[in-house]
Formats: sequence, C-alpha cells, structure tokens
Amino acid sequence: MELMQAIESRRSIRAFKEDAIVTADQIKEMVKAAGLAPTWKNSQTGRYYLAISEDKMEEVRKSLPEFNVNSSKNAKAYIVTAFEGKRAGFDREGNPDNELGDMWGAYDLGLQNENLLLKAREMSLDTLVMGIRDADALRKAFDIPESQIVVSVIAVGVRENDVDMPKRKEVDSILKVF
Ligand SMILES: Cc1cc2nc3c(=O)[nH]c(=O)nc-3n(C[C@H](O)[C@H](O)[C@H](O)COP(=O)(O)O)c2cc1C
Repeated sequence: MELMQAIESRRSIRAFKEDAIVTADQIKEMVKAAGLAPTWKNSQTGRYYLAISEDKMEEVRKSLPEFNVNSSKNAKAYIVTAFEGKRAGFDREGNPDNELGDMWGAYDLGLQNENLLLKAREMSLDTLVMGIRDADALRKAFDIPESQIVVSVIAVGVRENDVDMPKRKEVDSILKVF
C-alpha cells in the first residue's frame, strides 16, 4: 500500500467486524513499525501492552467508559500505550532540557503510534485510539510501573464499513508561510 493511501484511508473505526481475525504477530509488526519512528535522542521510551485474550480484553473494557466499550465492540485486540517518564526531554541527571519536560515523551509516543496505525492500515487492519480511559485501572491490570506514564488504548480490528473522513482544516488555516 502506498503511504498516502494508508494515511488517507486510516480512520477512527467505531464499528468493527465480528468475524475478523487479528493475530499477536500482526500486532508485533505494528509495534516494530512504531519502533522505527524518530525519538528524542533515540530514547525510544514508548511501551506497549497487548490484550488479545478475552480475559485481558475484558479487563481493558473495565477501564473504558461505556461509549468506548461500545465503539470497540468486536475489536480483536487492545494495545495499551505508555512511555517511560523523565527520559525524553531530560538530561542524564534527570533535569528537563527545556520547558516541555515529559511532553517530549508524549510527543515521541505520538510519532510512534502514528507509525503503528499506518502499519495496521497496510495490513488491512483498523484502529481506534482512545484517550478516555482509566489509567489507574490499566496500570493495575498490566502491572505497569510507576516510572511509566499510561497514555492511550488502541483498539484493533477490521472495519465493518468505510466511514467518511471528518472534516479537516484547510492547509492555509494551519500554515503560515514567511
Ligand atoms: C489522542 C487521541 C485520543 C482519542 N480518544 C478517543 C476516544 O476516547 N474515543 C473515541 O471515540 N475517539 C477518540 N479519538 C479519535 C478522534 O476522535 C479522531 O481521531 C478524530 O475525530 C479524527 O477522525 P479520524 O481518526 O477518523 O481521522 C482519539 C484520537 C486521538 C488522537
């Protein structure tokens, strides 16, 4: 699949096909693509926790509000994304390199996660990024250490139908050329 085709056809999917199959190997391919993204001083602080068994997926559902549980019904896996705090954007002594501090870790994770979403598209899989979730419940369920900041849950499955792209801003309204 061409890059632009993957970028343009990626959508947040809120209706997944019931009879689809997603394997742990496919998720590994997605995480491998995530690991190719640029990161602050190559610090690679993104961390991923895969729920693919029914029991673990049920634990993830308990961390989600009802609307996200409904949207991700029939997803075949959930990936919890996190990053090691106080590394990206920090010096060896643990002092922030600038005013953004741990936002750089979140920035890097976002870059990594977009790779992951696009790799999913290349494999004809679909995703829903969910930022509305209970981080403490996820930390408990996956035994995520306090050094890591829990960020999103990504549901993975196969779209039931194509959906329209939500309206995007015009380039001229987000870019100032000098
Ligand atoms: C950081 C982040 C958090 C999001 N959280 C949710 C969420 O909790 N529930 C949901 O239904 N969609 C969520 N979305 C999906 C956005 O609503 C969606 O990306 C946006 O409307 C644009 O649509 P598109 O992804 O199809 O291009 C989230 C997206 C991002 C990037």
